[in-house]
Amino acid sequence: MVNLSVELTSNSKYDLILPNPVLVASGTFSNALEMSKINNIELLGGIISKGTTINPRFGNNSPRIIETSSGLINSIGFQNIGVNAFIKDILPIWNKWNVPSIVNIMGNNIQEYGELALKFDDISSIDALEINISCPNVEVGGMEFGQDPHEAIKVMKSVKKNTDKPCIVKLSPIVSNLQEIVKAVQEHGADAITVSNTYPAMAIDINKRKPILGAKFGGLSGPAVKSMTIRNVYIASKVATIPIIASGGIMSAEDAIEAMMAGASAVQIGTATYIDPDAPWKIINGITEWCETNTINDINEIIGSAVI
Ligand SMILES: Cc1cc2nc3c(=O)[nH]c(=O)nc-3n(C[C@H](O)[C@H](O)[C@H](O)COP(=O)(O)O)c2cc1C
Repeated sequence: MVNLSVELTSNSKYDLILPNPVLVASGTFSNALEMSKINNIELLGGIISKGTTINPRFGNNSPRIIETSSGLINSIGFQNIGVNAFIKDILPIWNKWNVPSIVNIMGNNIQEYGELALKFDDISSIDALEINISCPNVEVGGMEFGQDPHEAIKVMKSVKKNTDKPCIVKLSPIVSNLQEIVKAVQEHGADAITVSNTYPAMAIDINKRKPILGAKFGGLSGPAVKSMTIRNVYIASKVATIPIIASGGIMSAEDAIEAMMAGASAVQIGTATYIDPDAPWKIINGITEWCETNTINDINEIIGSAVI
């Protein structure tokens, strides 16, 4: 038997231990209700909610998602039911599942991050918060907080004063100095970081001579970004004293192992699920098989093993 369990928290008074390193990426798995009909949610390393905001949001104008030659550009713009409806309607369903449960939150301003954190502080079934400071698809909030270490610190302070839950901070890949942001959030209470969100992108309809997406710009994900994820994880791991979760272009068990060798303790599966809804489960099985073939008894042995 291969031990696949990994630890995701270090600073917090709560432990967050995943049964395996495969999480599902926020927004690509809805709130898991549909996917629970096709496979066993409890076999996953953990689930992460759709980005949740204080108020419900209708999102951006369509089209909101397009396929490129090697990925997706999305500009959903945070369509979600809002935090109160999430707690009322989704949580009771999540509570039936025995799986680590993470809520992804995004504020329009610093104060809203704190308000969202407070909403979940006394909900024992939520194991951690993923704090999105990096969404490229909204006009306010999101990415601007992840660009500047001072803004990121303000978000951390707002969240940490309202909750003891483990905080995973989801970073932007487009920053002038990733290591500076990593240090800033970890010094202010981040328990783990997700590296990273999507890459700002756009596509043009050459017949209409117009941007395709309703919001013009979106975020690129999928195979196109994997090699950048690997580099960013590697660079982050040089300064991170907290666990790293790799997100971006992880399509296979081999990609997951590569990201873990670059320093990730866990991975998120997003765009791969659009090609094969069973991808997260297949990747878990693939990691087990790879470990068996390579006589690895404990997945933790490979974390950061390629960092030189
Ligand atoms: C349709 C779509 C919706 C997304 N929604 C969110 C979201 O609500 N919050 C968030 O933090 N990231 C969101 N993301 C980013 C993903 O969680 C993930 O970080 C990104 O897609 C990179 O991983 P991938 O290449 O495996 O898809 C979304 C991505 C896609 C494709």
